[in-house]
Amino acid sequence: MVKKKVDLSDVTAVIPIAGMGTRLKPHTHTLPKVLLRVADKPILGHVLDNIKKMGIKKIVLVVGQMREHIYRYIDSHHKSLNIEYVPQNQLKGLGHAVYLAKSKVKGPVFILLGDTILDINFKKAFSQKRDWIGVREVKDPRRFGVVELNNDGYITKLLEKPVQPPTNLAIVGAYYVENSKHLFKCLEENIKKNKTTRGEIQLTDALQLMIKRNEKIYAEEIEGWYDCGKLETLLGTNRFLLDKYHNKSKKISGSTICPPVYISSSAKIINSVVGPYVSIGDKAVLENVVIQNSIVNKKAKVSNIVLSSSLIGYNAMFNGLKHHINLGDSSVINLSGIDDDNEL
Ligand code: G1P
Repeated sequence: MVKKKVDLSDVTAVIPIAGMGTRLKPHTHTLPKVLLRVADKPILGHVLDNIKKMGIKKIVLVVGQMREHIYRYIDSHHKSLNIEYVPQNQLKGLGHAVYLAKSKVKGPVFILLGDTILDINFKKAFSQKRDWIGVREVKDPRRFGVVELNNDGYITKLLEKPVQPPTNLAIVGAYYVENSKHLFKCLEENIKKNKTTRGEIQLTDALQLMIKRNEKIYAEEIEGWYDCGKLETLLGTNRFLLDKYHNKSKKISGSTICPPVYISSSAKIINSVVGPYVSIGDKAVLENVVIQNSIVNKKAKVSNIVLSSSLIGYNAMFNGLKHHINLGDSSVINLSGIDDDNEL
């Protein structure tokens, strides 16, 4: 029998965003990873927009170091949302982060990893009252949580980053659990026993314990999974979002703009060629620049350079070289160090 659909106004979203963003250094030395820009806003802005679209009203953010940046961002951009904060002072793993939100969650919980932008068919995922975990088939699942299923698409086993994955179905970072009490109980048991995998209290292990105790969890196939964990994937996610939302032609006098691009209305573009796949933040200035497949953050100043596949931090300044040359016939000079410049 098909049960009623989930009433999302009863659900609390828990979004862990305390991770250090090690693979995105140096940017994450000065800013939490989720505040790095992709397309027209920070990663966290996209995640919160998704939560809003779903109709979830209560949000808990599990925050880590540099959390004051998060508070400031929420205050200036998402003041209308009902957000509570829980600090995670020691990074003991995703399971530990979620457990810290226990006192703020009453009914069903939706956990969404704060550094992952998902293109989910929410209507379908919540069309039945059943627990689900978002999964997707990947070539090499060893750096993810992995699930095994029965013939009806329900999960029979979960493993965190197995050396020999039994399937190619990776956990993408979206979890819906009706009986949050049971989830918190399993997390608590693992914390008390100090049951860790790869040195961390894992959400995957607590969900495995729930399944062992006969909880049924469906594997919901997610098509669009856009990771922001390292430079290449951040740029890939930027490309996806620009293609989807910013593919219209745009004119800036004195420059050439090749869509898709996002250029903040307060950015200044002078004598440059911008795009495709470029995002430029507020008050950034570009002069004599050719740039593609890149993100330029707020207040950065870039001049006299050809750039691709680059990430320029907040308030950074980069002024390239100008040359004077008197080049003989048939000479070859390649200063780029790249043989094939077609990197896209
Ligand atoms: C976490 C989860 C893992 C999941 C992954 C998705 O791992 O523990 O099961 O597959 O997110 O991105 P992390 O990337 O935090 O190591």
